[in-house]
Order: sequence, then C-alpha cells, then structure tokens
Amino acid sequence: MKILGVETSCDETAAAVVEDGARVLSNQIASQVEIHARYGGIVPEVASRQHILAIIPIVRQAMAEAKVTWNDLDGIVVTNGPGLAGSLLVGVNVAKGIALAHKLPIIAINHLEGHIYANWLNSHSIDFPVVCLIVSGGHSDLVLMKGHGNYTLLGRTRDDAAGEAFDKAARILDLGYPGGPAIEQAARNGIASIKLPRAWLEGSNDFSFSGVKTALLRLVEGNKVSSRADAAASFQEAVVDVLVTKTVAVAKDYRARQILLAGGVASNKLLRQRLIADSPIPVLIPEPVLCTDNAAMIAACGYYRFQAGKTSSLDFDVTASLRLA
Ligand code: KG4
Ligand code: ZN
Repeated sequence: MKILGVETSCDETAAAVVEDGARVLSNQIASQVEIHARYGGIVPEVASRQHILAIIPIVRQAMAEAKVTWNDLDGIVVTNGPGLAGSLLVGVNVAKGIALAHKLPIIAINHLEGHIYANWLNSHSIDFPVVCLIVSGGHSDLVLMKGHGNYTLLGRTRDDAAGEAFDKAARILDLGYPGGPAIEQAARNGIASIKLPRAWLEGSNDFSFSGVKTALLRLVEGNKVSSRADAAASFQEAVVDVLVTKTVAVAKDYRARQILLAGGVASNKLLRQRLIADSPIPVLIPEPVLCTDNAAMIAACGYYRFQAGKTSSLDFDVTASLRLA
C-alpha cells in the first residue's frame, strides 16, 4: 500500500510517499527556518503564505522521488492539528483537492500521533504496551500506547514545552533560532558546570521547564555567565535529566515493553544517549530527519488507520489545539 503524506502544521512544508507504513520511498521537506530566523520565531501569517508557495512543488517532488503516479497511490494522509490554523489549512485543502480529483481515500491525522509513528519507519519492531515521550516545540507529553490508535496521556508540560524551553534558552544566550540545535552545538564546547534547578513535581508525571529557563535568565541578567557554552551545556543537562528520569520511571510504573522517543527534541544527541543508557527496556528513536517535522511519519500513521478500515469524510476541518488523548 503506497500512501502520500502531507504535513504543514508549523513551518515545514512536507510531502512523502511511504509503502506499507514502513518503507520511505520519498521524504521532501521545504523548511522556512531561514525566513523566520530573522524574527527570532515563527510568524504565523508568513508561515501560511510560504506553505501556499511550497506545497504543490513539494508534493510533485515527493511523487517524482518515489517514482509514482497518482494511479500508484492507495490513499492520502494529512495533518489536521495541532498546529497553526493558517498553516494546517494549506495542507488539508491541498490533500482534499488531491483526494477528490484522483478519487483517493483520505485520513486526517493528529501531528503528535504522526511523531510517534516515525518509530515505525525503517522497520523497527514495536512491542506494546509502550511509553512514548513526545518532545517538540509545542508539547512534552508522556503517553501510554497499548495498541495502534490507543493512547492514554500520562503526563504533560504545565508550562513551556521542552523544545520551547530550548528555543527560549537560546534566545537568552543569544545563540540564534531554532534554539534546540543551537544549544546542542554550543554545549559541545562547554561543561555542564552551572547548577540549574530541576522541577521534579513529585507524585506527578507532568513536566515544568519555565523554572530552569527563568533561572538561566537571572544568571545572564546578573552577569553571572562567563561561558555561553557552559550555560548551554548546563541547560541541556538539566532538561535532559528531567525528561529521562521521569520517562524511565513512568515506563517502569506502567510495565512498558519499550520506550518510543518522538518529536523534534528527540534529535538531541544527549537525550538519545542518556535515555538509552538509563532505560532497562529497549528504547526506539527515529533517525534525526524523521524526528523533526516531516510527512513520512504522517503517512506511516495513516497506513495503520487505513488498515483498521478507517477513512475521513471530506468535511473534516483543522483543529489548532487538537489533542491526542
Ligand atoms: O517536532 P518539531 O520539529 O516541531 C513541532 O512539532 O514543534 O520540533 C521543533 C522543536 C523546536 O523547539 C526545536 O528547537 C527543537 O524541536 N529541536 C531540538 C533539536 N532539534 C530540534 N531541541 C534540542 N536539540 C535538538 N537537536
Ligand atoms: Zn512536530
């Protein structure tokens, strides 16, 4: 089964063709990072206009790279939330147009669910129940997954998401945008020698990252940071420490067989290494290009929905604050 995935929830215009939910035949991504970097963050109106310019060429490129025609496709899958409404609308309407014109079944997918399914790409074998840690620009969710499409939210951030915290810390340290890769790169030349607080929130599986960000801000404002590299390393260490410790504890509590890491922050090397080192059960992590926003993960997720006999009718809408569970 060959599926075209379309993803425009934030600042990446993406299209991909995936076979049987696992083999990536193409994975095209047009990033808007350079455009938004000028403003230090995503400008929603600019993002949706860029999606309009990029979406058709990106879909064509994905089809060409996969060497498929419309007749070769069995379905189309598109993200309808959560994300920026104007951005989501572009992908959803293009996907609906394609479905209508080429008489293809269509499925609307939750972006976070897509991130989880990046773990199915390139033939990983998954053994339920699993605990998923989804860490992106907008979410830090701990999710118990007992089967395909079966999610229970166990914990979430009470304030900043992990990726958002990285982005804000990078701004505080004047390291540029997007912050996650900038902090990671700066941290390579530093030592995690600065003590920063960890919000353990005892008795809860929730996260909180605004305290560590504010602590960093106070240090910078008080001219107490002599090395930005050390500050970046210390910040990264503090965030990764909490993410890993809480995820491993939750996986034990719920007797998970595996841990699945997902979302843009999952491309962080320290997080990947630390989670693998500290977990007593297998940890699956997509390759970095499949951690950040892409359409292959959306197509993979849609495959399992089609397999379960589901399709969406063409009147579905975008939902900016769509929840997973
Ligand atoms: O999943 P994603 O590509 O988009 C959303 O759904 O939000 O995640 C983007 C987030 C950004 O906050 C970015 O700073 C963060 O992921 N990120 C990283 C790294 N690469 C991207 N954070 C830490 N380390 C990285 N290497
Ligand atoms: Zn994402």
